[in-house]
Amino acid sequence: MTLLQSPGAAAPLIALRGVCKRYPTPAGAFDAVRDVDLDIAAGEFVAVIGQSGSGKSTLLNLLGGIDRASAGRLEVAGAALHDMSERALSRWRGRHVGIVFQFFQLLPTLTVAENVMLPMDFAARWPARERRPRALDLLTRLGVAAQADKLPGALSGGQQQRVALARALANAPALLLADEPTGNLDSRTAQELLELLAELVRGGQTVVMVTHERAALGYARRVLSLRDGRLVAPEHAQSEHAGLAQAQLAQHGSEQAHG
Ligand SMILES: Nc1ncnc2c1ncn2[C@@H]1O[C@H](COP(=O)(O)OP(=O)(O)OP(=O)(O)O)[C@@H](O)[C@H]1O
Ligand SMILES: [Mg+2]
Repeated sequence: MTLLQSPGAAAPLIALRGVCKRYPTPAGAFDAVRDVDLDIAAGEFVAVIGQSGSGKSTLLNLLGGIDRASAGRLEVAGAALHDMSERALSRWRGRHVGIVFQFFQLLPTLTVAENVMLPMDFAARWPARERRPRALDLLTRLGVAAQADKLPGALSGGQQQRVALARALANAPALLLADEPTGNLDSRTAQELLELLAELVRGGQTVVMVTHERAALGYARRVLSLRDGRLVAPEHAQSEHAGLAQAQLAQHGSEQAHG
């Protein structure tokens, strides 16, 4: 197993059945995610698209155990999320899920290396003396080792996102989630980040990424499209990717996504 590979990856990594997320609002209950059935195999690179408010972030947060479903079953990385206590869920999340956000969300008062070590300190999966070397190793692989002892504020956006990616990988998560990871990057820097994600996938990492960027769809092996909280066949017939995505959606969870 290499540093950037997830441990014990075995298909299927994610299985959702009848998953709903309902929010109470003053105007009555609102279903942000509706009746989603979804299988994702280990090692897939999945893009999630859809208009603003279609439920992309909500779906991602359900996959990562950040939010709890209102109904349905979610099995992710060997855990039945719908059955877990808040405490168990938080512990599971720390060990099995890494997340990258649009605005990096690094802690400004910690150095870059300390930011990457933080999830290792929480999960205690590596002995204390191995955490800094591991953080430096991850930063090296992501091309930002020279920034290790700086504060995040001294880094460019692209560098900060690489650090955020290193932090997300700190505990070798089975599942890497990214919510518009390139949303705050210029197109060249975005392209570089997508290349890094693709490289992780080649190393066995499972990635689910919300994106608005068409360029990003060229990297994903499968595209999920959401509309009003439901999975629908992608209708952006822009490229062969859309057609491919459509075929794959029709048999989601199939081995074809590995082709
Ligand atoms: N805590 C909440 N309470 C009530 N409604 C919510 C809550 N969180 C999200 N929603 C609603 O659920 C829907 C889906 O939100 P979500 O953030 O998942 O959309 P999104 O597809 O990620 O949009 P964007 O592209 O703008 O990030 C939206 O209509 C939103 O207003
Ligand atoms: Mg969102």
